[in-house]
Amino acid sequence: MKAPIKVMVCGKGGTGKTAITVLASRILSERFKVYIVDSDESNILLPYFLGVEPPKPLIDYIGGKREEEEMERDLPSIVGALARAREGIRLNLLPREYIATSREGIGLVTIGKVREYGEGCACPFNILARVLLSGLVLEGDEIVLVDTDAGVEHIGRRLEEACDSLLIIVDPTIESLETALTLKNIAENLNKDSWTIANKVTEDIKEILLEEAAKLNLKVDGIVRFDRDLYLSCLKREPLKSSIAIDDLREIFGRIWRLV
Ligand SMILES: Nc1ncnc2c1ncn2[C@@H]1O[C@H](COP(=O)(O)OP(=O)(O)OP(=O)(O)O)[C@@H](O)[C@H]1O
Ligand SMILES: [Mg+2]
Repeated sequence: MKAPIKVMVCGKGGTGKTAITVLASRILSERFKVYIVDSDESNILLPYFLGVEPPKPLIDYIGGKREEEEMERDLPSIVGALARAREGIRLNLLPREYIATSREGIGLVTIGKVREYGEGCACPFNILARVLLSGLVLEGDEIVLVDTDAGVEHIGRRLEEACDSLLIIVDPTIESLETALTLKNIAENLNKDSWTIANKVTEDIKEILLEEAAKLNLKVDGIVRFDRDLYLSCLKREPLKSSIAIDDLREIFGRIWRLV
């Protein structure tokens, strides 16, 4: 893979985007400086899975959440707040409280979370995510993985445009295959690379899943098996434990990104 690169991890709700983002960051951190941008405005467990304290949300850094229209009007000042003069936006220059670093050296940046009932929509977070990713300047060995919210909400916000490629996660459900098709088409229209990974696959359903994907003309680039340790560590809110899924991902990334 040619670093630097911004990879958006996307797909239907619950397919394993967050788990795969964390495992992928561990694999990639052996060769690259990896950052995770958590752009999911509702789920809050990524820091636990990565084994870090939650960083302060970036929305606080730019003065808190505002109305969507106001933020759209204020884009230059948001970019100004995030960027260092002439250097563009660099994650390694953010104040320490906004970036948590794991044992493996993986940096985590969180955009913001909807916490209160009636707080309004997540659009301001999506705007900030887009501004951050579009303006981000990466060094030679840096990679950014973006963990997104479920489904296709980010499409409306054109977050895809700000990334270089899409890693689309499906699980053995027909809905997730349909969502993957939508995302794949978007990637194609934007001239971006995309790969589809089938996750939580058990031996008995593997062939059926591949048949259903083939019927939709959806190419599956890799299969990650159901991993009980991973499932249990998620359930217990612990740093992710995985041997099966991480092995499968290592093989997949080696192949699709020529990492080995
Ligand atoms: N390979 C796997 N084997 C077993 N369980 C898995 C695997 N991948 C993910 N899971 C489980 O699937 C559930 C959903 O995973 P995760 O939270 O990563 O999905 P998500 O796509 O990020 O969900 P959301 O759309 O809510 O953000 C979790 O319970 C996780 O433990
Ligand atoms: Mg998630």
